[in-house]
Amino acid sequence: MPTLDRHAGVHATTVIERRELAAGVVLVSLDAPLLAKATRPGQYVMAIPPSGEAAATALAVYEAEGKRASLLFFITGKRTRELSELRAGDRLDVIGPLGNGFDLTGDARDVAIVAGGVGIASVLLCAQALLRKDARVRLFYGARTAELLVDAQRFADAGCELVMTTDDGTHGERGFITEALARHRKPDSIIACGPSPMLRAVARVAAEAGVPAQLSLEETFGCGVGGCWGCVVPLSGSSAQAPGFPPASSGGSDVVYARVCKEGPVFWAHELRW
Ligand SMILES: Cc1cc2nc3c(=O)[nH]c(=O)nc-3n(C[C@H](O)[C@H](O)[C@H](O)COP(=O)(O)OP(=O)(O)OC[C@H]3O[C@@H](n4cnc5c(N)ncnc54)[C@H](O)[C@@H]3O)c2cc1C
Ligand code: FES
Repeated sequence: MPTLDRHAGVHATTVIERRELAAGVVLVSLDAPLLAKATRPGQYVMAIPPSGEAAATALAVYEAEGKRASLLFFITGKRTRELSELRAGDRLDVIGPLGNGFDLTGDARDVAIVAGGVGIASVLLCAQALLRKDARVRLFYGARTAELLVDAQRFADAGCELVMTTDDGTHGERGFITEALARHRKPDSIIACGPSPMLRAVARVAAEAGVPAQLSLEETFGCGVGGCWGCVVPLSGSSAQAPGFPPASSGGSDVVYARVCKEGPVFWAHELRW
């Protein structure tokens, strides 16, 4: 998974459209042709709230087509609240595309994409790219409640088969999406984005089934561009993603610390040492 951020830049964009897909879930589309062209599935931007009073925040690139790049986010705190107040015609500076993105070079024919909550924002480009390669794509999509299963129809229209769960049983099966993943047909490959407990459960299901899994981690970022080492995860020292610095411990452990923002955010589940 090579990092692709040699294509990254600062993009001064204009908001084309702003839509609320559910209470507290906002889609902001930007006029950003260079960003849309450069973005690979699973990459993200650091979006800079325009007031200058809050730090930039990491957001996946949800859509990238023509001149349009879109961000889909849940209002969780100060920065996403400010970004949710953007309207068509407003300006927004973003840095990106950043991170490695998903490795879609393999020949998997039957792919399970697992998205939990806001993790859905990282996987639309991935689903579209796999479908273009004629892979069979099943989206396992879980959320707390029915109205937070946003934009599911978009995936169905694109050609994905959908399996949905809600914690409260208001749509699809009641329970965690990883339980559904474990019950359904074994895929060739798994791709997942969502909260850490879900990703750990995906890693367990993948290990038990002997299926390779790529996980996009949702770490809290400081700088977002590799400078502060505030976002590290333990990783096998033999991983191709292991950073050259600091060196692996010589105390008998092969664990190194990789920056989620720089070496990731996507890691092979079997290489993480959680
Ligand atoms: C690569 C990447 C891509 C992302 N893409 C998206 C996306 O497409 N859409 C989206 O909605 N979100 C996405 N996120 C998550 C988003 O960046 C965070 O939720 C961000 O913190 C929101 O900023 P905020 O100021 O609005 O909220 P914050 O004030 O930062 O709070 C967000 C939530 O995280 C909790 N939190 C804050 N700091 C910590 C901490 N140190 N440890 C644990 N929990 C904490 C808060 O309690 C709150 O529930 C992504 C994150 C990463 C790393
Ligand atoms: S957030 Fe600063 S190095 Fe990752």
